[in-house]
Amino acid sequence: MRNARSPRGQDIERNIEFEFVRATENAALNSIHWMGRGEKEVADAAACDAIYGVFDLVDICGEVVIGEGIKDNAPGIFLGDKLGTWADGAPRFDIALDPIDGTSNIAKGLPNSISVMSAAYVARGKQHCMMNIPSFYVEKLAYGPQIDREIRKRDLAPISLDNPFEKTLIVAATALRKRISELVIVMLDRPRNQKYIDVVRREGASLRMIADGDIAAAVAPSLPDSGVDLYVGIGGAPEGVLTASALKALDGVIQLRMWPRDDAERADLLKVTTAESLSRIYFTDDLVSGDSSIFCATGISDSALLPGVKLVGRTAITHSILMRARSRTVRYIRAVHNLAAKTIHVRSSTEDRKL
Ligand code: FBP
Repeated sequence: MRNARSPRGQDIERNIEFEFVRATENAALNSIHWMGRGEKEVADAAACDAIYGVFDLVDICGEVVIGEGIKDNAPGIFLGDKLGTWADGAPRFDIALDPIDGTSNIAKGLPNSISVMSAAYVARGKQHCMMNIPSFYVEKLAYGPQIDREIRKRDLAPISLDNPFEKTLIVAATALRKRISELVIVMLDRPRNQKYIDVVRREGASLRMIADGDIAAAVAPSLPDSGVDLYVGIGGAPEGVLTASALKALDGVIQLRMWPRDDAERADLLKVTTAESLSRIYFTDDLVSGDSSIFCATGISDSALLPGVKLVGRTAITHSILMRARSRTVRYIRAVHNLAAKTIHVRSSTEDRKL
């Protein structure tokens, strides 16, 4: 399919994608100062300020369709917020973002926090391309392209959130030509994930639990050499859609199903969605539809996806990943920032900020 073009024939996504790197880099650089200081909301506010600041200078009509902040009334960039200048004729993008996935990790100085954004070009007259899941949590299962390919090629039993997790482990091991004891499963360390923890331990697979930040963890199985084979468990709904956007470029798979916390949430959800949607399993392409998807993340502290920000004297080194579903190009961008010269544009100040 022909790429989205500007009126002058330029590829719109290619023109814009590096602005996303600048935004997540600046979010990481503006929040790194708060590492280990116990102030997760201040760190999050700094990341949001930097992201707004970058897009205040970029000619797009960006609408936030997956935002953050609802979790704990933290400051944030919310559903319906606008990014970009909204200049006449500027291209329209759906935007999903988590300025910091793993705010508690930053506050405690722990690994596994990233700044992450995703965008999809919305052609004239088209509806949104990213699904806004109404539940707070979702059940997720994410795995890489090799498992998906082998299931199809060798006609293995399909992997499904509906099946007992023991069965998923057997299919994953068969697809990867590994023993179950060689599989590495990652999940959030939460009591609600106990049923998965029990199965992994009983079956003898290897378990890696993370405190927070499950986007990096769920993308990792789709990256060669991440050392992780499956992500499973109940985690945040927006993080699931952001994961889907990355997996579109990596040919990985996420399965996701809403997980109401209690009867009251189930009843509330049934006011805005159907019982069928509530019990349905959504796949990558249901969550982010169409061909256009840009995914970008910068490491703040080390994760399975990216190294965190390294401060060396008056230099900061950032590592970002930038991917595009249309071209399947995956770029790793290592940037060296000279802090003596570097300034970033933030929304909260008329003057560019020195770091
Ligand atoms: P934030 O840092 O964006 O608040 O999210 C961290 C996170 O660990 C997500 O990665 C995960 O999906 C979600 O929180 C899990 O929620 P909870 O901490 O309520 O179990």
